[in-house]
Amino acid sequence: MERGGGSQIEEPMRETAAVWWRNGVIYQVYPRSFQDSNADGVGDLRGILARLDYLAGLGVDAVWVSPFYPSPMADFGYDVADYTGVDPLFGTLADFDELLAGIHQRGLKLICDFVPNHTSDQHPWFLESRSSRTNPKRNWYLWRDSAPDGSVPNNWMSNFGGTAWTWDEATGQFYYHSFLRQQPDLNWRNPEVRAAMYDAMRFWLDKGVDGFRMDVLWLLIKDDQFRSNPVNPHYRGGNTFWSVEAKYTADQPETQEIVREMRSLLDSYGDRVLIGEIYLPIPELVRYYGAAPAESGVTPHLLGAQMPFNFHLIQTQWQAELIADLIRRYEAALPAGAWPNWVLGNHDQKRLASRIGAAQARVAAVLLLTLRGTPTMYYGDELGMPDARIAPEDVQDPAEKNQPGIGQGRDPERSPMLWQNQENAGFTAHGVKTWLPLVWDWPRFTVETEDTDPRSLLALYRRLLRMRRTSQTLVSGSVANVRAEDGVLSYVRTYEADRIEVHLNLTDEVRWVEALPGRVLLSSFLDTEGMVLDGWRSLRGNEALVVEAFHA
Ligand code: NOJ
Repeated sequence: MERGGGSQIEEPMRETAAVWWRNGVIYQVYPRSFQDSNADGVGDLRGILARLDYLAGLGVDAVWVSPFYPSPMADFGYDVADYTGVDPLFGTLADFDELLAGIHQRGLKLICDFVPNHTSDQHPWFLESRSSRTNPKRNWYLWRDSAPDGSVPNNWMSNFGGTAWTWDEATGQFYYHSFLRQQPDLNWRNPEVRAAMYDAMRFWLDKGVDGFRMDVLWLLIKDDQFRSNPVNPHYRGGNTFWSVEAKYTADQPETQEIVREMRSLLDSYGDRVLIGEIYLPIPELVRYYGAAPAESGVTPHLLGAQMPFNFHLIQTQWQAELIADLIRRYEAALPAGAWPNWVLGNHDQKRLASRIGAAQARVAAVLLLTLRGTPTMYYGDELGMPDARIAPEDVQDPAEKNQPGIGQGRDPERSPMLWQNQENAGFTAHGVKTWLPLVWDWPRFTVETEDTDPRSLLALYRRLLRMRRTSQTLVSGSVANVRAEDGVLSYVRTYEADRIEVHLNLTDEVRWVEALPGRVLLSSFLDTEGMVLDGWRSLRGNEALVVEAFHA
């Protein structure tokens, strides 16, 4: 990959060898939707335990489980009422311990989702905080007087629409919530809040979890003067959240100090990973690696999150030129020694197969698993699951309920995992109503169906994961010569004398690319492996090719 003058990026290899989160592939499980073990239509921890062999067989390395803590479920677990327990819907702490042991027995890692920005309004801390203005926990949350005319303190907006301020009648003040009114934001300027949250993290670290995915890490701190956000001149309707620019409510400089504190807590446990959920443009995103200024002489010099999640593949239009440009800009922006990562889907985004279509979903699989950096997969994407169709009476997501019909709903991408060709796809027992409907043509996408087809998307993912696992070049090699030509995205991965070329045809027509002679390691059609190629490659429409170049 070209940085500045076009030389290859030399990555410091010293840390690379043994670090699991660099070498591995992360798989996100949304626990409500993965596997139900007790026939209530909602997935649970014992369900995940029962499916660990599938995950190990797939070839992923780490399982990130979205929140399973006690919660009123206003935002399906992202409204935590107790940071050190398990909601009965998902099981018990003993189930968690078994799951963790099962994951470790299989040589996998467990990444827990942690929700530091806000609690549930039913969390004892908030109940205390709202009990009176003089309660010792009053300052654990963000309370403000009304404006002189009795209206909200400023124009800060909730991500789920409407003002971010809710009036509390009993104590005569407003409290702030970045999301639902049932999710009051904690005051991270308060050292007591920090200490309490770090204790909660220790609880899980002591149990042996291997890291955290930190929810909305870039939102933790808000302007201490509570200044109104600038009005967004480009706003043309849609989610009212976008009617203002989040100048004073997101990515505040003081957030970096908290990220460093979290990181140093994790580091005190050894080999644990801090992943940040951060939706920001690349230059702002990469600051979350926490690079210390070179002149400070601090070592190690990256003191922030090891992996600020990179969602730009989700946000970039599926065009070769734009993705080539994205890869180049991202690689060039990484601070020295920072490890890249790539994400194609999660529980907040339209499904990959629905965004770019089934044919390109195969190309995207090759992209995700051959780029430099840790890939994160979303459950069901390995099957090509599309978005489910959600009838109005089936809507669950508060984001949709708050602002219906403008595309805010996240239910479609959260529908149950498709396992077997039987009622409820093996997700739950016969006769049980699943919490969200299955995708309508689900038998096409089950693990059982795809297992019988040697060229299924699942077969492609398994092959890719095996290839990556056995290739030092794909895991640790540099990436260079990132280019787009006539709808084909190409790049080269190099490690010592080995050179792997990747060509991704993002069009549905035949394309030719010029390259060095080599042997096909993989075609996304899974039919030309081992084929020897001369200097030209012909790519079928929607084909991705991974080619091992012959040594010169
Ligand atoms: C980000 C999570 O990914 C999303 O699902 C949730 O609604 C918000 N944070 C609020 O916690």
